[in-house]
Amino acid sequence: MIADLQQLEKDALAELKEAGAEDSILAIRTKYLGRKGLLTSLLRNIAQVPIDEKPLFGKRCNEVKELLETKIEEALKSQAQNKKEEILARDKIDVTLPGRGVRPGRVHPVVQIRREICDIFASFGFSVVEGPEVEWDYYNFEALNIPQDHPARDMQDTFYIEDNMVLRTHTSPVQVRIMEKVNPPVRILSPGRVYRPDSDVSHTPMFHQIEGLLVDQGISFADLKGILTAFLKKVFGDDTLLRFRPSFFPFTEPSAEVDIRCVICRGKGCRVCGQSGWLEILGSGMVDPAVFKNVGYDVEVYSGFAFGLGLERIAMLKYGISDIRLLFENDIRFLKQF
Ligand code: DAH
Repeated sequence: MIADLQQLEKDALAELKEAGAEDSILAIRTKYLGRKGLLTSLLRNIAQVPIDEKPLFGKRCNEVKELLETKIEEALKSQAQNKKEEILARDKIDVTLPGRGVRPGRVHPVVQIRREICDIFASFGFSVVEGPEVEWDYYNFEALNIPQDHPARDMQDTFYIEDNMVLRTHTSPVQVRIMEKVNPPVRILSPGRVYRPDSDVSHTPMFHQIEGLLVDQGISFADLKGILTAFLKKVFGDDTLLRFRPSFFPFTEPSAEVDIRCVICRGKGCRVCGQSGWLEILGSGMVDPAVFKNVGYDVEVYSGFAFGLGLERIAMLKYGISDIRLLFENDIRFLKQF
């Protein structure tokens, strides 16, 4: 029996040495020390031990039991320690490495210009309104006095959704939508995306415009000149020279295009201004009575002016950008310069 005990001790210690995982250590504990374990059964058989060997056998049994308990405890502890070290090694952080910074985003140049223009007109008492980008033919053309055979209505110049529905080609339809809803006085500014089937260094199929409209009693061309002059000097600087050039738009009468002295060559003539010394900046005019009639305004009482400008063009001139497509490629190296 003593020999059995000796063998049991040897086996148990050997197995313990091999055991790595917590599970297998616990299994060894059950196998030897559990209620039906090998050592427990051996102890239960003490009756068969010759009487004079009993004390020694009992003592050895307890020694083996204690030894195994201690060894098992140790094995569990060191197993837990190993596991902890493994996790620490795996999740090691080198605190001496330089941090990975999160670069702050920037406002896109076109959005910067839009905000700047909206702020300027807000200071003149204009409010910002928006209109749909998918627009009825009526608002985009008809109500703006653009005749059925006007070249702008050609398939080549307009994206058609259906026969009488288009992607708006300008922000002017918002004028009509607003005037249909409210009575004068009206002072609105309407920024937004517009669409035309064009694509080259100065045209993209989608671009941005801002439309402005002021209607009240006694508004004259002098008001148009005053407001647009103040506006353009705020954007391009106080020393900006302006030129109001007679033009034609179906929805204004009279109409004028506004040029500023070339910001690149200061009037000497360069590639950007086509040697003329002037840059075309916006279209404008006194609202045509035909448009007022379409929205039910009394043309004997009210008059007003409207204007429209392209935001990409302003951004390009202000920041000296030569290709409009750069504004839409979203190359961070380009965008972070503004
Ligand atoms: N809608 C015109 C365009 O897209 C721009 C424009 C010209 C708007 C004159 C106006 C205006 O309100 O009065 O080319």
